[in-house]
Amino acid sequence: MLTEVQIRLVKGTVPLLESAGVAVTEYFYNRMFNAHPELLDIFNKSNQRSGRQQFALFSAVASYAQHIDDLATLREVVERVANKHTSLFIQPEHYDIVGHHLIATLKELAPDAFNTEVADAWTAAYAVLAGILSGREQQLYTEKRSATGGWYGPRPFKVISKTMESELVCSFVFAPVDGQPVLDYLPGQYLGVKVKPALASNIEIRQYSLSDQANGQTYRISVKRETLPQPGLVSNYLHDEVKVGDVLELLPPAGDFYLQAEPAPTVLISAGVGLTPMLAMLETIVAAGRNTPLWFLHACENRAQHSFVSRLHTLAQQQDNLQRHYWYQQVTTADLKTGLVSAGLMDLGALKDQLPLPQGQFYLCGPAAFMQFVKTQLLQLGVVATNIHYEVFGPHQAL
Ligand SMILES: Cc1cc2nc3c(=O)[nH]c(=O)nc-3n(C[C@H](O)[C@H](O)[C@H](O)COP(=O)(O)OP(=O)(O)OC[C@H]3O[C@@H](n4cnc5c(N)ncnc54)[C@H](O)[C@@H]3O)c2cc1C
Ligand code: HEM
Repeated sequence: MLTEVQIRLVKGTVPLLESAGVAVTEYFYNRMFNAHPELLDIFNKSNQRSGRQQFALFSAVASYAQHIDDLATLREVVERVANKHTSLFIQPEHYDIVGHHLIATLKELAPDAFNTEVADAWTAAYAVLAGILSGREQQLYTEKRSATGGWYGPRPFKVISKTMESELVCSFVFAPVDGQPVLDYLPGQYLGVKVKPALASNIEIRQYSLSDQANGQTYRISVKRETLPQPGLVSNYLHDEVKVGDVLELLPPAGDFYLQAEPAPTVLISAGVGLTPMLAMLETIVAAGRNTPLWFLHACENRAQHSFVSRLHTLAQQQDNLQRHYWYQQVTTADLKTGLVSAGLMDLGALKDQLPLPQGQFYLCGPAAFMQFVKTQLLQLGVVATNIHYEVFGPHQAL
């Protein structure tokens, strides 16, 4: 464990680390990738370039250090990060590499502040954090390896179907090449997809939410073609190059965003491709015959970009307790005539007499700005923050 003095030294240097920002993180990643180019197969290069991942690692180390003497408050973040790390197949030896380059970066960039005593305190603090994260990751690996249909590391899967769900979203169903069962997952969880697009210089791993209920045999993901500000590497590769019959590797399902086990009035709220985890939750609730009120609320650009409309229609026919409402930026008269569509941004106030307020469980997924906008509305409608659950399709951000 850390001494009082070490904790004070670490906390005292956090503001320096925070204020140094991007320059220090860039230095760190360049230093580490030069020494260990194999790590380029783990880190998302686009997130690196846009600065998103760089920020995630350093802000986490800084915030862990702030709470180093209060590890209980870190449990939630540890769960999220450890799950993400397992979808990338991160190993204990990677922690030694990251730790080494992190401390070396601090010493090289701020030799006065990071004297031997401070550097030793940081080394000890990093070792504590790495031990907690890596320990949880080993537990998750063991659980997933030993469960029915489970496995460890990348496993080959064949694409058995490819279906366009709307203008930009394509579903892929994967079956394992070994013909054995696959691990069940909690609705809302994602898996890691490991590919080597022809255009890419390294292997790339991306997370995709499972978009159907678990069936023990196959997995379905639904992928949006990313085009802005430039074509996304893996999503365009999956859309354009990967065909039925092709084989790629998957890492086992993971994630701390999932449907609560307790049956409760449930409101599934999404925008764009953020509807994928919601669909897995919805299909699971319907299959389980849960009879509590259920809402599926979705926002997207227009009807052409609205995925799974007919599946929602079928489910609503079967399920009396399922209510739907949609918001399109561009609406037609035909959309409005359905009575299910409103124009513009999602407005929960318009449904406030029907929604299970404030006691329902609210699940959110979509762009961070959308989720922030919806969360603000929910809080104004009296929902408590602990009943609002959300997933970010990228490095995590607080709402
Ligand atoms: C838990 C989780 C679940 C997810 N579930 C889904 C899902 O169900 N469906 C889905 O479609 N996606 C999902 N995603 C997102 C998915 O993992 C990928 O991030 C997404 O497909 C984009 O990957 P890509 O390789 O196509 O784009 P990348 O090449 O990774 O690019 C990502 C973004 O960065 C931009 N970019 C690239 N280079 C630069 C640069 N130099 N400067 C600035 N911007 C740049 C691109 O234009 C793009 O918008 C999920 C993500 C997470 C974390
Ligand atoms: C104590 C050490 C570490 C801390 C505090 C840490 C923290 C984090 C955090 C906060 C995230 C974002 C999680 C999210 O989006 O929800 C993350 C993601 C990630 N981490 Fe770590 N991490 C550590 C060690 C490592 C190691 C050893 C590796 C591998 C060499 C690694 C590789 C990654 C990668 C590749 C991602 C995903 C990046 C992305 O989506 O672009 N991390 N980590």
